[in-house]
Amino acid sequence: MTSFFHYELPPFLEKVFSETSLNFSSDIFEKISLKYHNDEAREGASLSFKKEEASVYALGRMPATIAAIKDVLRRLQQKKPKFSPVSFLDIGSGPGSFLWAFLEYFPKFERGVLLEGNSYFLDFLRLFIKEGESSFKSLQNVEIMKKNIINISLMENEEYFDLVNLSYVLSEISEKDQIELLKKAWNRTSDVLMIIEPGTPKGFLNILHARHFFREQGGFFCAPCPHENRCPLENRKDWCHFSVRLKRSNFHKRLKSAFLSYEDEKYAYLIIQKKPIERNIRESRILKKPIKRTGHIIFDGCSQKRDERITISKKTPQLYKKAKGKEWGDLWENEEE
Ligand SMILES: C[S@@+](CC[C@H](N)C(=O)[O-])C[C@H]1O[C@@H](n2cnc3c(N)ncnc32)[C@H](O)[C@@H]1O
Repeated sequence: MTSFFHYELPPFLEKVFSETSLNFSSDIFEKISLKYHNDEAREGASLSFKKEEASVYALGRMPATIAAIKDVLRRLQQKKPKFSPVSFLDIGSGPGSFLWAFLEYFPKFERGVLLEGNSYFLDFLRLFIKEGESSFKSLQNVEIMKKNIINISLMENEEYFDLVNLSYVLSEISEKDQIELLKKAWNRTSDVLMIIEPGTPKGFLNILHARHFFREQGGFFCAPCPHENRCPLENRKDWCHFSVRLKRSNFHKRLKSAFLSYEDEKYAYLIIQKKPIERNIRESRILKKPIKRTGHIIFDGCSQKRDERITISKKTPQLYKKAKGKEWGDLWENEEE
C-alpha cells in the first residue's frame, strides 16, 4: 500500500489536459505504460518519441511522475526543513514534471534550467508554462534548452544549482552514460541532487549504481538511506522502493480505460547532498508497508547498523501510539539500547 497523500495536478495543467483536442489513443498509452512497468524502457526510448507518443506520455504518465517527484520533495523537506533552493537544473525534463512539483514546494525560485532533447516534449513544456505564468510569476525565470544530455557538457557556462534533478532518465540511457551523466550532474550541484527511477528491480539497480558512485565521490545521503554504509539490499532479491497514491481525473480514467479513481505510483529514489549530515544512529527508514497486528506493529527498517525487523508492542503504549501513525517510507526512531 501507499502513503496517505493524494496528489492532484495543478489546476492549469488539468485545464490543458482536459482541453487538449489530441486524438489520444489508449492503445499507445498501454504500450508505453507496459514498457515502464515491465522494465523494458530502453536507451533513448522517449527521446525518440513521435508527437503522439510524447503526448500520450505527457498526458498519461505525467500525473504519476509529478506525484512521485512531490513525494520525494516531501521527504527532502522532512530531512532538510531549512532547505530553500532558489535555483534548479532539471536534466531530461520531458514535459516538465519536476517543474510542476517543485513549484508547489518552492514557488519563489530565481532561476530554473530545463534540459530536454525531444522537440515534442519541449512544445508541451512551452504550452504548460504559458498556461501557468499567470499563477506563478517565477515561471518567467525558467530557461528551456534543447539539448542532448549525453557525450557533451550540460551547459557552456560555469553555473551551479541549489537543486539538480534527474527523474525517470537513468533507465533510458546505457550504464556507461549513466555514470558520465551523474558526474556532470554532480559537478553542477551546489547543494542537493535527487534521482528518481521507476520502483522496479531495474529502477532500483540504477539507484544502487548511482549510490556506489556517490559513495566514491564522498556524497552524503539525505534520503531514503539513513547512512553511507553499503546498501543492505545489495545482492538480495528484494529492492528498495516506495509508493504514492494519486487521484485520477475523468480524463485519465478515459485515457487508461480505468475505473478506479486513483492509482499507486511505485518509485525508487536517492537524494544526495554535498555537506555532511549529522547522523542519528537510532534512525531507521521503513522499507515496507508496516504489518499491523493485534497487539503489535512490525516494521522492516534500514538503519545505520543494519536492515532490521522492529516490533513495537502495545505493552509500550507511547511507542505503540507513535508507531500507529507511521507509514511505508517514513523514518522511525528506535529506542535507546
Ligand atoms: C521518461 S522521460 C522522464 C521525463 C521527466 N524527467 C519526468 O520525470 O517525467 C525521460 C526523458 O529524458 C529525455 N532524454 C533521454 N535521453 C536523452 C538525451 N540523450 N538527451 C536529452 N534528453 C534525453 C527524454 O527525451 C525524456 O524526456
